[in-house]
Amino acid sequence: MGRTIYYTAMSVDGFIADPQGSLGWLDGLDHDPDGLLGWTAFDASVGSFVMGRATFDWLLSGPLADPTTPWPHRQPGWVLTHRPVERVPEGARLTFTDAPLGEVVAAAREAAAEADVWIAGGGVLASALARAGLVDEIWLSVAPVALGGGAPVLPAAAPLRLVQEGRNGDFAALRYVVGPQPS
Ligand SMILES: NC(=O)c1ccc[n+]([C@@H]2O[C@H](COP(=O)([O-])OP(=O)(O)OC[C@H]3O[C@@H](n4cnc5c(N)ncnc54)[C@H](OP(=O)(O)O)[C@@H]3O)[C@@H](O)[C@H]2O)c1
Repeated sequence: MGRTIYYTAMSVDGFIADPQGSLGWLDGLDHDPDGLLGWTAFDASVGSFVMGRATFDWLLSGPLADPTTPWPHRQPGWVLTHRPVERVPEGARLTFTDAPLGEVVAAAREAAAEADVWIAGGGVLASALARAGLVDEIWLSVAPVALGGGAPVLPAAAPLRLVQEGRNGDFAALRYVVGPQPS
């Protein structure tokens, strides 16, 4: 069985979006997709994903605002929401659901088979999953930027173990396993 991995970029003060909901602070920073904890190998290892509604809405109003822009993910995804969705991008294989998180992750795991499940964020969903014991690892690309506020990366208490660290371009690359230190 694969892992469930919350993979995201954050500021040094722990935000994944600025107070206006923008990710513009990532623009122009150097990050090698083939480098440490880079997107290329991660994406290849992922068989499905789960995403919060705010992150989905941000995609639709930002990178996918032009309806001719292709949906960027080949894997099936589950979007957690309590509300109907107005537009589903062409080519997206998405299930919109408010089912219990354990059921959603079980479905995503089944679709991924031996591959990993990407927890695409945001922090609200990732923390609910962490509280439910449904996050195995957290991979962080830490940008050399302080935002002073915004959407927190993980607004929940969780014990973490650092298992890999290094540098990718302008970013610190950190991999954590969720759980207490081994005694
Ligand atoms: N830096 C990065 O790499 C990165 C990655 C991902 C996201 N982001 C940014 O993060 C921001 C959004 O993050 P966020 O933490 O505020 O929100 P989020 O986790 O993306 O979405 C939260 C919403 O998901 C729905 N939801 C969550 N748990 C649910 C459950 N158990 N059942 C049903 N619905 C559930 C609810 O929406 P409703 O009740 O309204 O339907 C909730 O308000 C965006 O600005 C996005 O751009 C950044």
